[in-house]
Amino acid sequence: WIASVIGLAIAYLFGSTPTGYLAGKLLRGIDIREHGSRSIGATNVLRTLGKWPALVVLVIDVLKGAGAIVFARWFYPWLDALGNDTPPLEPQTWVPWAVCLAGLAVLLGHSRSIWLNFTGGKSAATGLGVLLAMSWPVGLGAATVFAIALAISRIVSLSSMLAALTAIVLIFGLEQPLPYRLLVIAGGIYVIARHRANIQRLLAGTEPRLGQTSPESS
Ligand code: G3P
Repeated sequence: WIASVIGLAIAYLFGSTPTGYLAGKLLRGIDIREHGSRSIGATNVLRTLGKWPALVVLVIDVLKGAGAIVFARWFYPWLDALGNDTPPLEPQTWVPWAVCLAGLAVLLGHSRSIWLNFTGGKSAATGLGVLLAMSWPVGLGAATVFAIALAISRIVSLSSMLAALTAIVLIFGLEQPLPYRLLVIAGGIYVIARHRANIQRLLAGTEPRLGQTSPESS
């Protein structure tokens, strides 16, 4: 269990790296959490700092999610092998469960960063990274729905939530281990729940479209 705790802490710290916040501080000396939707995600970086910083933040945030899964898949079997003289004949059944928890930890880290007093983003980009590393067809499907929804609506939050729902539907259509299915369901629900303020604005008809002025509350 110590291995699990160490792995989870590393995944959480991966997620906690506050890319969007650092971009605001380094490029303009501002706290991005006081601007736009107050999220540290790439969408708010786009509104507040522009296209190129947003692209960099997006890529790094996706890599954080993917990196946590790649790391967990290597780390847990490695740590397990350290304690055994002979490698187990059967693959360790607990490893996918530990990977699943590491996936949730990286999502939590991004939206509740230890470096930002447990504030952060909405974990959509980091969630995409998790999906791509865990099951690339599911990640690709979610990204495709995101792109189509964004092209039609020009609303990032709506597109992110539709992508999260798509991932939940797809994970059931594909042959996947139970822990991965549970990760996608829990992670998808978490990402949608993080969009609470966006849902309220969508219902009120005040959610900004791409290129429009920003909402002033999160
Ligand atoms: O990934 C976050 C996005 O879906 C919404 O961001 O800044 O418009 O709340 P924002």
